[in-house]
Amino acid sequence: MAKTVELIIDGKSHTFPVVEGSEKELAIDISDLRDKTGYITLDIGYKNTGATKSAITFLDGEQGILHYRGYAIEELAEKSTFLEVAYLLIFGELPTKAEYEKFTTDITKRTLVHEDIKKILDGFPSTSHPMGVLSSLFCAQTAFYPESLNPNRPPDGVYLSIIRSLGKMPTFAAWSYKNAIGHPVNYPDNKLDYCPRFLKMMFALPGQEYEVDPVVADALDKLFILHADHEQNCSTSTVRIVGSSKASIYSAISAGINALWGPLHGGANQEVIIMLENIRKDGGNIDKWIDKAKDKNDPFRLMGFGHRVYKNFDPRAKIIKKAADDVLKKLGVNDPILEIAKKLEEIALKDPYFVERKLYPNVDFYSGIIYRALGIPVDMFTVMFAMGRLPGWIAQWKELRDQGEPIGRPRQVYTGKTKRPFVPIDKR
Ligand code: ACO
Repeated sequence: MAKTVELIIDGKSHTFPVVEGSEKELAIDISDLRDKTGYITLDIGYKNTGATKSAITFLDGEQGILHYRGYAIEELAEKSTFLEVAYLLIFGELPTKAEYEKFTTDITKRTLVHEDIKKILDGFPSTSHPMGVLSSLFCAQTAFYPESLNPNRPPDGVYLSIIRSLGKMPTFAAWSYKNAIGHPVNYPDNKLDYCPRFLKMMFALPGQEYEVDPVVADALDKLFILHADHEQNCSTSTVRIVGSSKASIYSAISAGINALWGPLHGGANQEVIIMLENIRKDGGNIDKWIDKAKDKNDPFRLMGFGHRVYKNFDPRAKIIKKAADDVLKKLGVNDPILEIAKKLEEIALKDPYFVERKLYPNVDFYSGIIYRALGIPVDMFTVMFAMGRLPGWIAQWKELRDQGEPIGRPRQVYTGKTKRPFVPIDKR
């Protein structure tokens, strides 16, 4: 018999169905709670609220498990490529050789952006944070592809929007950096693969040869795989909410980029490096900074520590910690903040404050160290995260459309003033 739960309000019993996911996750379906009882649920920060049924990513925060479409993140990071993972997330299965070739060719054909986008870029002062520039340029595509406002017309509109998003993202990302340093932009070199093409647009200087280091390109590809999706996090929920109003994919993803920007979300990777640098400059006294993080009167938090859903360990952090060691060794980089990070982790993981609250290093704790070793400037870290997360946002946007989900619209408990009469200002 199907499982149900009983809710008793004022002595009256109400029954609600229990929904079971394919990995045995349980949820109480309260879709008709208000109709049946007049009540709503209150769950600030959506800590216990399932906003959708999704077949894209499974994660178990207690066990430290992360799967994309049933494949373990550890296996994908080791054996797959970023664009293969992008295809998997968006279309549900790993591509065949022919599908992969078509997908990558279609993306490569759409790396160039309209020249007028450069005029928009020129309007940004070089002090602009690259994330703000990225989200603006991404959203500007609605002006160049007005048909994206209704991607069901033409029939291949959804596919085209997806391919354009993946093709142009690295161009926008590299251009947001060139703007920040006041350099002329580079155009995409379509002879190169996805990550090398991006690196060349980022780092090539006029009149100079630029050779992409395969170690750097491979490390970036791996980081992108680790970031590619993470079910209903803050930025993905934002993409789904905006997409649910049937706004264009470009505006939905632009909103996701903005949500990712914040220091409590994707912006943490930048904050981690700033924090580690501050600890280093302060003489490397780690205990002092641990005490600051524990002090409730001090706003400082250990950046890169803690996670809303991982309460055991973040499987991505494990892979990234090892990758940080490997990449720094291969590149011959000796970064003192890697040692500080490792010591900080060691001390925090033994400290009752962090143990009791189940606070572990998250994906951002070591990713910034790798980005730094790859030569990516700090302001660009969150842009890297956005590039990696793009396939996840696209997959979630597509799923929302395919499932015909209604517009996202939470309710609230009103705590303001009750009705009162308007008293005009005495203007005499
Ligand atoms: N340093 C010190 N204390 C912390 C930290 C931290 N990094 N994170 C959480 N805590 C403490 C809180 O003060 C709170 O303590 P209390 O129970 O005594 O009040 C307790 O742990 C629970 O923390 P919440 O903020 O309620 O947990 P929540 O799930 O809402 O927040 C978050 C999760 C935002 C990730 C939080 O751990 C944090 O701010 N971490 C630092 C920022 C960071 O690394 N963000 C990246 C997350 S990963 C990502 O988005 C890709």
